[in-house]
Amino acid sequence: MSLMFGEDMTDTAATPSGLFGDRVAALRSVARPRRTGVVVGVVGLAVTVSGIVARIGDLVRIGSAEAPLLAEVVALDHERVVCLPLGPLGGVGVGSPVVNTEGPLRIAVGEELRGRVLDGLGRPMDGGPALTGMSRVSVDMAPPSAMERSLISEPLQLGVRALDTMVPCGHGQRIGIFAGSGVGKSSLLSMITRGTEAEITVIALIGERGREVREFLEHDLGPEGLARSVVVVATSDQPPLVRLRAGFVATRIAEWYRDRGKNVLLMMDSLTRIAMAQREVGLSAGEPPATRGFPPSVFALLPTLLERAGPAPVGGITGLYTVLVEGDDHNEPIADAARSILDGHVVLDRRLATAGHFPSIEVLESVSRVTGAITTPQQRSDSSELRRLMAAQRDVRELVEIGAYVPGTNPDADRALALRDQINDFLRQSIGDQVPAERAWAQLGALLHGNPNGEGLS
Ligand SMILES: Nc1ncnc2c1ncn2[C@@H]1O[C@H](COP(=O)(O)OP(=O)(O)O)[C@@H](O)[C@H]1O
Ligand SMILES: [Mg+2]
Repeated sequence: MSLMFGEDMTDTAATPSGLFGDRVAALRSVARPRRTGVVVGVVGLAVTVSGIVARIGDLVRIGSAEAPLLAEVVALDHERVVCLPLGPLGGVGVGSPVVNTEGPLRIAVGEELRGRVLDGLGRPMDGGPALTGMSRVSVDMAPPSAMERSLISEPLQLGVRALDTMVPCGHGQRIGIFAGSGVGKSSLLSMITRGTEAEITVIALIGERGREVREFLEHDLGPEGLARSVVVVATSDQPPLVRLRAGFVATRIAEWYRDRGKNVLLMMDSLTRIAMAQREVGLSAGEPPATRGFPPSVFALLPTLLERAGPAPVGGITGLYTVLVEGDDHNEPIADAARSILDGHVVLDRRLATAGHFPSIEVLESVSRVTGAITTPQQRSDSSELRRLMAAQRDVRELVEIGAYVPGTNPDADRALALRDQINDFLRQSIGDQVPAERAWAQLGALLHGNPNGEGLS
């Protein structure tokens, strides 16, 4: 597997575009004296280099020209450049030669990516054909400006009844899925991949174990899910910078489809692991830990990454980001920071999962901040009625359990208790079932107002 970081890795922003631009870039590249630096120290993951001129984000090649190690510049001072590796450090020593490629990481993009599984640097890892002849773009891109973005006004069907009705997602919305481990995040993402009306799904699997990735691809996603997706994978054993970049690679691929007018669904599992990778990168680059061991760059990273999703003048990226809440602590700093940036959150609950209630969405804790803009008055009234009934039932649950609830005390609770089984049947959905949003709304209407159209759940 070869990565073609050719001599053309200059910053395209400074170069005229088109054939003429390519020539200019090639000439400049040949004319420029290329300085070779050397490694002067390695501490932990940080490789200190002297003798090159570099900017933050530049890729450098360390070692022999035949089998170089790629590394990225993460910190600079007067003469020294600190780089973090994008591969194993074995073989790097003091004196190893270093050449700057003069530009950031670039990846191949194109329609051919559909159905492919890529590594954290955008290279195929599914044994399929090489990505030759495709255009190559920098992974960095500015988000659309706030004034150019269209407003979120259309719902995006996810095919999961509890989400489409109770936490509806808009085209271009960014939602966090907050859950502990083993609560059903991956299964939910795979249900969404199969049930959504989005034209293409880009899935980033970051920081998972290798076994989980294969399970997700083969069991959860399956061939039909994969056929409408691009999957980017950086497992937990990859260097932190690769795990970090994987999030940007997936986002950049989503942007490429968006810029061709597509409605893209970008799913990232998990945002927490990207933040943890940034923590390792920041600490290795010499940043001080600030909030609960996280350096400031972690909190700067989250908005930069998440702002790149959202509506755009053409097309849009709807983002679903899973956030791990370890020990089911919903207030840890990453979860807190993510919640403040995202436009909605879905909470998965361990008690529901252990009781076999899947998808384990805790509806009363989940909110979509754009519900008002993407639902009809009737839909809003139905979903808030169901919420009211569920809340009333929750209020009296303990009384009911000990047999102390007196029917007639709370009319909403009485109604909720009478409808309890139907409500649970409505909110549950087996992993292979896809329910169009229109059908889900009809089923909710039938649940609340009787069954005029014979709309059942089966
Ligand atoms: N919709 C579902 N129907 C039945 N079982 C499910 C469903 N979703 C999740 N599960 C069960 O929960 C387990 C953990 O789910 P998974 O999606 O792997 O969790 P996570 O990604 O949060 O670690 C799965 O092995 C599966 O048995
Ligand atoms: Mg998982």
